[in-house]
Amino acid sequence: MKTILATGIAGFIGFNFLKYYLRTYPERRVIGLDNLTYAGNYDNFSALSGEEQSRFTFIKRDIADPVLVNSLFEEYDIDGIINFAAETHVDRSIQDPSAFLKTNILGTGVLLDAAKNSWSGKESGKKFLQVSTDEVYGSLGTTGYFTEDTPLDPHSPYSASKAAADLLVKAYYDTYGMPVVITRCSNNYGPYQFPEKLIPLIIQNALHHQPLPIYGDGMQVRDWLYVEDHCQALDAVLEAGRVGEVYNIGGNNEWENIRLIRLLISILQDETGDPQINETLIRFVRDRPGHDRRYAIDSSKIQKDLHWRPTTDFTKGIRTTVTWYLEHTEWLKKVSSGEYLRFYEENYRKR
Ligand code: NAD
Ligand code: DAU
Repeated sequence: MKTILATGIAGFIGFNFLKYYLRTYPERRVIGLDNLTYAGNYDNFSALSGEEQSRFTFIKRDIADPVLVNSLFEEYDIDGIINFAAETHVDRSIQDPSAFLKTNILGTGVLLDAAKNSWSGKESGKKFLQVSTDEVYGSLGTTGYFTEDTPLDPHSPYSASKAAADLLVKAYYDTYGMPVVITRCSNNYGPYQFPEKLIPLIIQNALHHQPLPIYGDGMQVRDWLYVEDHCQALDAVLEAGRVGEVYNIGGNNEWENIRLIRLLISILQDETGDPQINETLIRFVRDRPGHDRRYAIDSSKIQKDLHWRPTTDFTKGIRTTVTWYLEHTEWLKKVSSGEYLRFYEENYRKR
């Protein structure tokens, strides 16, 4: 039975991928490694069927723990690694970068090293997929797109730590011939996203008639992709991506933040009928320092080489997403723990 090690699977994209992968490959098994930070939610796993759970082993540990990670390679015959585990929120990285350096850089190094030691001499058929981000490319002006050849130019401690990890992954390919691939994806939306991120934060605040904070002038642009489309792209890269390559993944779906927030308000009005959810809740607040103005991905390489393309229409995907959060208010409440409330208070008090 083919076995993959997937890290960060209790978080947003990791959990969506876990569900997708176990459903898509009924003959495969996943070892999940996640130390359940504030962003990881163990309860998510109850959404897996009994059969899926029988092919899933969960280990609550840190990817930056070399003893543990090496022992996993001794215990299991691991065919592939997909590394989702990371500190991922830009505003938190601005408050305190230290956890970003440890998990995103050191943690990736520990995984690479353990895989190198275990796979040495039998690399054939193995693959290490580093899930990276378009933020490593920095910011675009009003035109143009990020290609795989765009120079790295990160601006936040988060994106700098992801860029550092990408370089480490590349170095393991160049130096040791490790079978690595890197993906760089644009902003994801969908179920199970932690409500510190824009879309679930707006939904949660609107439901409680709380202010909807827009950083700066709200004209920053993000390229939104439905999370399941990202999972399909990752699957394609894990199966058929060429080692040593980078693949950009994007939705070809650019929205200014303010326009997206207005759309969310109108869907919420429509779905709830609540007249208090309206545009008077919008508040323009102090901008994020170093805020990237525009991200837009050119994903023609993965489209051409691996025949992937986004299939979820945004109008449909965003309504499905809003509906999911409306049907999972208990999930939202549960993940908005004391720790999250502290971060929220600290991040927005000063704005
Ligand atoms: P998330 O914050 O929702 O989840 C991160 C997960 O990693 C959590 O379950 C957390 O517990 C786990 N984790 C953190 N530190 C760990 C450690 N030291 N050891 C083990 N587990 C640890 O993140 P996400 O939005 O699902 O992002 C997943 C990956 O995709 C990240 O690498 C991120 O950089 C990348 N990415 C995200 C987006 C996006 O829009 N969310 C877009 C492109 C790329
Ligand atoms: O592009 C991929 C990246 O997308 C991932 O690598 C990151 O892990 C992920 O967090 C996301 O980064 P962003 O910074 O783009 O996402 P966020 O949801 O934090 O913000 C989206 C946009 O909305 C951004 O321009 C900042 C703005 N924003 C965000 C928040 C939380 C607001 O205007 N108000 C807010 O309260």
